[in-house]
Amino acid sequence: DRLSLWGGRFSGGPADALTELSRSTHFDWRLAPQDIAGSRAHARVLHSAGLLEKDELAGMLDALDRLEADVASGAFAAAPEDEDVHTALERGLIERAGPELGGKLRAGRSRNDQIATEVRMYLRAAAGMLAGKILDVVDALVGQAAAHPTAIMPGRTHLQHAQPVLLAHHLLAHAWPLLRDVQRFRDWDARAGISPYGSGALAGSSLGLDPDAVAADLGFDAAVENSIDGTASRDVVAEFAFVCAMTGVDLSRLSEDVVIWATKEFGFAGLDDAYSTGSSIMPQKKNPDVAELARGKSGRLIGDLAGLLATLKGLPLAYNRDLQEDKEPVFDAVDTLEVLLPAVSGMVATLRFDTERMSTLAPQGFSLATDIAEWLVRRGVPFRAAHEVAGACVRRCEEEGKDLPDLTDAELAQISDHLTPAVRDVLTIEGSVASRDGRGGTAPVRVSEQLARAQEQSGAL
Ligand code: ARG
Repeated sequence: DRLSLWGGRFSGGPADALTELSRSTHFDWRLAPQDIAGSRAHARVLHSAGLLEKDELAGMLDALDRLEADVASGAFAAAPEDEDVHTALERGLIERAGPELGGKLRAGRSRNDQIATEVRMYLRAAAGMLAGKILDVVDALVGQAAAHPTAIMPGRTHLQHAQPVLLAHHLLAHAWPLLRDVQRFRDWDARAGISPYGSGALAGSSLGLDPDAVAADLGFDAAVENSIDGTASRDVVAEFAFVCAMTGVDLSRLSEDVVIWATKEFGFAGLDDAYSTGSSIMPQKKNPDVAELARGKSGRLIGDLAGLLATLKGLPLAYNRDLQEDKEPVFDAVDTLEVLLPAVSGMVATLRFDTERMSTLAPQGFSLATDIAEWLVRRGVPFRAAHEVAGACVRRCEEEGKDLPDLTDAELAQISDHLTPAVRDVLTIEGSVASRDGRGGTAPVRVSEQLARAQEQSGAL
């Protein structure tokens, strides 16, 4: 009956409107496996504390096994009058173990410490799953970088031609943030791996139960230091949502490059048919929908984080029912990334680059002007003066409608005594990228080392 959890003090049942508002089984049912695992661990500490006889423990564990099987098969599901996953599963337990035995499991625990623990368990598994899918995107980027070791493209700042860079260098620049997102999930796990079970409603238990034993049973490193913190805090959930949002933003920036590259005007990359869509009216269209959905869904992931933080802001200690609102945003973040990541890794792995077009465009927009200036600096000219000389070269080219390598020896000499024909060595895109050979630079030797390190990190994570 509807009064089963708190019937003693109440003379009437809840209004239908309250039941409708209160119910969370439509989203917290996914925590049923964690709830049952928690119940098993709790039954064991009740037994250790002398509150369940040996045969009672066996009967309890047997009933929980049967309940778990029925949940998995769908034979047991939440009923409309069940408020949440915990109340539904307690009903299921009592149906299987009887009211006498089944009614003993609630001693010394509260839905407040149950839910705080179960969300952490669920998110720890989700973090591992998502990290694996992020690494698939990293591998796709690394694979494309390895397949294009020498291709040169226009490097941009402000979306304007800046300096030539290796395509592999640019692709790896998208891989590193994603590797850090995986590291963030790993770091986060150290904070998520602490169990709130045993905190009770807020103050702990008087029954001599061992929270550390429950923690170990459920795969946690330890139990929380503070039962109020254990039941009231959700920073660990918010931090998870942040890593999801950050991953979404990193995928969005990668995707924006793909959208631009796939335009006629850029023409740097073509999408595989399997990862693009057509138009219902325009027969010629091939649209980068995966990349656009990645951009769009990053907004949704940011919303999940922002909504959760707004829920937490200003909440007094300890548990408040507002905290039930933590689950939908964070589950949405998990579900969103779970479908998005494989699509992005497939899109990246199947991109076809027009490396010829990239290298044709790479020297345009006077992108080798910095090379002239730095060449002069290596010959002892102060950078300030060198910058002006290179700027004069650009101005001359603009006047004559040509590119820097087209300046004649006479024109170079006219601009500055320092500009001997040897400057032409750096006036090629190959010379330009090869010269940037410090650690982290775009020179092919450095990029192939970088590639190896990215592969190594991805393999180690
Ligand atoms: N369903 C709640 C949640 O998700 C847990 C139940 C706590 N309810 C309560 N009245 N103390 O946070």
